[in-house]
Amino acid sequence: ERTIIKDKLNRPLHDLRISVIDRCNFRCQYCMPAEKFGPDFEFLPRSALLTYEEIERLGKIFVSLGVEKIRITGGEPLLRKDLPLLVEKLSAIEGLSDIGLTTNGVLLPKFAKELKDAGLKRVNVSLDSLNDELFGQINGRGVGTTPVLEGIEAAKQAGLGVKINMVVKKGLNDTEIIPMAEYCKEHGLELRYIEYMDVGSTNGWKMDDVITKKQIYHLLKERFELEPVGPAYFGEVAKLYKYKDKAVNVGFITSVSESFCSSCTRSRLSANGQIFTCLFNGNGHDIRNFMRNGATDEQITERITAIWNGRDDRYSDERTAETNNNRKKIEMSYIGG
Ligand code: GTP
Ligand code: 5AD
Ligand code: SF4
Ligand code: SF4
Repeated sequence: ERTIIKDKLNRPLHDLRISVIDRCNFRCQYCMPAEKFGPDFEFLPRSALLTYEEIERLGKIFVSLGVEKIRITGGEPLLRKDLPLLVEKLSAIEGLSDIGLTTNGVLLPKFAKELKDAGLKRVNVSLDSLNDELFGQINGRGVGTTPVLEGIEAAKQAGLGVKINMVVKKGLNDTEIIPMAEYCKEHGLELRYIEYMDVGSTNGWKMDDVITKKQIYHLLKERFELEPVGPAYFGEVAKLYKYKDKAVNVGFITSVSESFCSSCTRSRLSANGQIFTCLFNGNGHDIRNFMRNGATDEQITERITAIWNGRDDRYSDERTAETNNNRKKIEMSYIGG
């Protein structure tokens, strides 16, 4: 008894990204710059966060409306207390085919096994450089690569699928494009290069800072033989290739140079219970208070349906070099990418 709902551009609801916390133990320049997210920054109080019971309830309703894939994000989701408990609740929902987590990896040595036992299938780990000094600068906390590499290893050992996300910013880590490819190829890890995006309003994005898929692809072609492979699932965000001499994929997330809005089936739930219909649309729709004020499952289902039916977002298709700085946007750390 699953209902298929469509938005104004005929896109079905298929994925749900759930942010469980807006805090992070890193201060990546392109996401939560330390100058803007300092000691006085006011994060959400605990009472504002959806409880695991509330998230589970919403998860079931989303699944009844067509969601098959859930991704847990943050901030850094592993900073949320007892996260494996949430994974256990969500993975028990009938009708879900995939459940993943996006993380900076540092806490994976502690949690990988428990997460796997709770039903998690995959983790996407962010790593922007293999050079300790540069990585420490990028993450804003001086943390070297070792804890992340240990996290990746722990996830593999636990039997979780692992992909690596590398945001590429011109003049910052473009020197790491080839070393990262070599490392990931050797270790059998799917690496995805992410075009630096104008998310939120704190990272000072300029089109000039972007290194496009085309530029990275040219660099890779000088070193490796690649062949294209089709998407692993409809509407996959990454464009994938594989190495000719090894069964390892490498991909590109081209939000800037080749947008993928026409197949965007993703809804987003923030840690404080607002639904967002696009990474770049800051007008959230409150569900938490509606739920806390006693809404029934039917009423919540109706509200989510109405939100999705009204969706016409296609920001990346419309983006210009000037980007829309007067547009109300959401911070990456608040919505989890
Ligand atoms: P898979 O299930 O492994 O394909 O995960 P994913 O790539 O969808 O999720 P992940 O959290 O690893 O995100 C990788 C990058 O893609 C991040 O920079 C996200 O912000 C970006 N991304 C994911 N979904 C969207 C989207 O709908 N629009 C845009 N513009 N970027 C997205
Ligand atoms: N542009 C592109 N990707 C970003 N991420 C964070 N900020 C940005 C940005 N401005 C990535 C993180 C993580 C994923 C959830 O989003 O590195 O891998
Ligand atoms: Fe934290 Fe990820 Fe943002 Fe870096 S990109 S500050 S690790 S949430
Ligand atoms: Fe989806 Fe918005 Fe990203 Fe386009 S910009 S792919 S509509 S989240």
